[in-house]
Order: sequence, then C-alpha cells, then structure tokens
Amino acid sequence: MKIVILGAGGQLGQELLKNLNQEDEIKAYSRIELDLLNHSKVRNIISSERPEIVINAAAYTSVDKAEDNIDEAFKINSYAVENIAKCLKEFGGYLIHYSTDYVFDGKKEAKYLENDQTNPINIYGKSKLEGEKKIQNILTNFFIFRTSWVIGEYGKNFAKTILKLSKVKNNLNVVFDQVGVPTSTNLISKVTKNLINDLKNERPWAYGIYNIAPKGSTNWFEIAKKIISFCSQKDPSIILKSSNIKPILTKDYQAKAQRPMNSLLNTEKLQKLLQFELPNWENDLIEILNSLLKNKT
Ligand SMILES: NC(=O)c1ccc[n+]([C@@H]2O[C@H](COP(=O)([O-])OP(=O)(O)OC[C@H]3O[C@@H](n4cnc5c(N)ncnc54)[C@H](OP(=O)(O)O)[C@@H]3O)[C@@H](O)[C@H]2O)c1
Repeated sequence: MKIVILGAGGQLGQELLKNLNQEDEIKAYSRIELDLLNHSKVRNIISSERPEIVINAAAYTSVDKAEDNIDEAFKINSYAVENIAKCLKEFGGYLIHYSTDYVFDGKKEAKYLENDQTNPINIYGKSKLEGEKKIQNILTNFFIFRTSWVIGEYGKNFAKTILKLSKVKNNLNVVFDQVGVPTSTNLISKVTKNLINDLKNERPWAYGIYNIAPKGSTNWFEIAKKIISFCSQKDPSIILKSSNIKPILTKDYQAKAQRPMNSLLNTEKLQKLLQFELPNWENDLIEILNSLLKNKT
C-alpha cells in the first residue's frame, strides 16, 4: 500500500517508520520536509503521491506551552488537520489520525468510552478535539486513535525525563492523584499496523474513533517508582532510590495547564478487532525501558 506519514520526526512518527511493513511504499515527512502549516504544499504532495493512507502523527503536544500559544496549537491540531482531511476528500485515501484522553474533563469515575461526552479543560485538549471534529465533518473514511500518556524510545517523554533526573537527583516528588496508564509508541504502532493489514486484507474496521491504551490503571508516582526500581538494577549511573520518590498532589505541582484527574480509556471496542491481546501497562512500559537502557538514553 502507498502510505504517507506526516510528522515523521516525532516520538510516534519515528516509531511508525521503524515498525510499519517494509513491503508497503512509505513516504515519510518530518516537519523540516513538510510543514503542515503550508497547506498548499500538503495538497500538492497528496495530489501527486495519491497515497491510499495518510497517517498524521504530527501535533502540537506541549500541553503547558499551548496555554500561551493558543493560535499555534489550533493551527497545527485543528486547521492543518482540516486541510489534510479536505485533501483526502478531494483525492481519496484513508486518514489515520491520533488524538488524546485530554478531550475529556477527567470527572468520570469509570474508563472513558469513545462516545462519552467530551469536555476538554486545557487548550491542547480543545485544539485536539477541534481537529477530531473537523475530520468527522469532512471525511467518512477515517480512523482516530485516542491515546494517553505516550512514552517511547524517541523524542521527549515522562520515562526519559525520570531516567535523566535519576542520574542527578536523590529525591523526587511526583504527582499521584491523576489516574491513567502510559501507552508506548510501540503499542500504538502495532495497532496501526494491525489496522493497515486488515484494510489490505479486506477485513475493514468501522470508521470512527478508537481508544488505544494498555490494560490496568496507575498514576505518575507509581510509574516513576516502577521506572527506577526496574532500571536501577541495570544502570549503575542511577543514584535515585525508588523509596526517595514521594507522592504529591496535582494542586501542589505548579503546571500551567489543568490536567484531567481520570485519563483512563476503555479499549473494549479496539480489542474486539485486534489480532493480538493488549498488554498490561507494566509489560508495555518494560519493553520501552529495555530499549532505553540498551540505547543508554
Ligand atoms: N505525547 C503524549 O503524551 C500524547 C498523549 C496523547 C495523545 N498524543 C497524540 O499522539 C500523537 C503523536 O504525538 P507524539 O507524542 O509523537 O508527539 P511529538 O513527539 O511531539 O511529535 C509531534 C511531531 O509533530 C511535529 N510537528 C509539529 N508541528 C508541525 C507542523 N506544523 N508541521 C509538521 N510537523 C509538525 C513535531 O515537530 P517538532 O518537534 O519540530 O515540533 C513533532 O515531530 C499526537 O497526535 C498527539 O496529540 C500524545
């Protein structure tokens, strides 16, 4: 299949590029190669390449900075997405796009279903929701994967930050009252690959929104402890002890943007279609930690 990946330089974009089928004809564009704010260039590429699938892994993902850079967040997460959708409407092809648990306010007690009421509480969430809506208004043949707390081998993420800090700090305070699960770029890529294989084999999925997350429930404090207890056995440069990680409340951590207190996504809809069992969050995390340790990130 002919596939165009947009935002190929991000943590998910790089992982997709590594994991997708070699036999597919993949054209990958990082921001330097294709700035999605250049709408006519995006249109030219889609009209000349005529991909069967466009995967949009680009986004404005700095949740706190988005509070000040509202225009930039909306330009990338909404207007650029609208342009991609319009191009696909004109030239054909499926759109695979990624979104976030931050479209919800986090007030629900249970895990969020795909069709639960959205109500974002920060600019990033609002801009991502607007992007989702633009796609839904323009296209029928789209797949939006909502995911949470993304970690991976590439780019910036929580696991890499904790590992970096663990080499220079003896004590760390980490928020414990937001619930969710970390989701690896590896898992998101595997799900994306499963969908592409099913499209190829005419085992199509219903168009729409799907949640992707591993099984279970945890919080940032527990994840940080897990990272340190696992990695300190293998990396002697880690000086932070997991017992010196202390839980703090969200209200005591000064962040510009508000975060949902519940980021848990219900994945039953996705699991029914997948050819493999979603892992639990600890196994999903350990796979990433092993890669990070191997690459001494
Ligand atoms: N990270 C998370 O925790 C998280 C959680 C839930 C959902 N998601 C969603 O998952 C998807 C992948 O996110 P990620 O974690 O891989 O984010 P990421 O590492 O920040 O990657 C996003 C990529 O988009 C690129 N980009 C930004 N503006 C662009 C533009 N105008 N034109 C072209 N490329 C542009 C960025 O380039 P620069 O680096 O040069 O800016 C970056 O390479 C996104 O849809 C995101 O909203 C992420």
